[in-house]
Amino acid sequence: MKLGVNIDHVATLRQARGTVYPDPLDAAILCARAGAHGITAHLREDRRHIQDDDILRLRELQSLPLNLEMANVESIVEIALDLRPAEVCLVPEKRQELTTEGGLDVLAHREALRSTVHCLSEAGIQTSLFVEADLDVLDACKEIGAPVVELHTGAYCEAEPNDRPLLLEQLIRAADHAHGLGLRVNAGHGINLENLGGILCIPHLDTLNIGHSIICRAVFHGMERAVGEMLEAMQEYEG
Ligand code: PXP
Repeated sequence: MKLGVNIDHVATLRQARGTVYPDPLDAAILCARAGAHGITAHLREDRRHIQDDDILRLRELQSLPLNLEMANVESIVEIALDLRPAEVCLVPEKRQELTTEGGLDVLAHREALRSTVHCLSEAGIQTSLFVEADLDVLDACKEIGAPVVELHTGAYCEAEPNDRPLLLEQLIRAADHAHGLGLRVNAGHGINLENLGGILCIPHLDTLNIGHSIICRAVFHGMERAVGEMLEAMQEYEG
């Protein structure tokens, strides 16, 4: 199973101060060095974290395949067609949400999704649909021609321990069903070291896309070193 690291929240830190650092491109290069298999970045319509120029640089200046997460809106589809990332993952997007809150309503937007999946596929981009673990939705993904689905693991990952077995069962059934339809199966959202054990019970997974928990742990893994570096630089002080 492969790991795609979502580096959006490196850009969140940068945008919070309007600086040029930390740079998601530098994060992607470190992810590659650590053995990650891909980089995921979400170009949101409101550009709250990742910017257009980040996508351009992530496409051209680092070695890992880029999975561009995006809403199915014309202006962003045009950017994808122009930049040709290896993969696109279509997600629902609401301006007020803190993060992607649910899977795509594939049944309601079937024709619009069909047309975008077709355009992106014609351009050689593997297109994935971010969906809940719902068998009818997976049938619709197959019918409109999507080669890949990403199962939304947020409900399972955020659930109370008592509620988890049922939600995990739904994910397992969905992965089996999608695989049976010939779809490639990815999964993502809310995955961390504590809940990963359950995720590893889901069959047929090709890639896990994980962002927030990795960026959060990276902050603490780097804290002692960052403080130590600053203290060392302060030794130069001569009064
Ligand atoms: N996959 C998709 C489709 C997402 O929208 C997100 C969040 O941007 C992720 C994976 C990563 O989720 P998290 O940051 O919770 O690991």
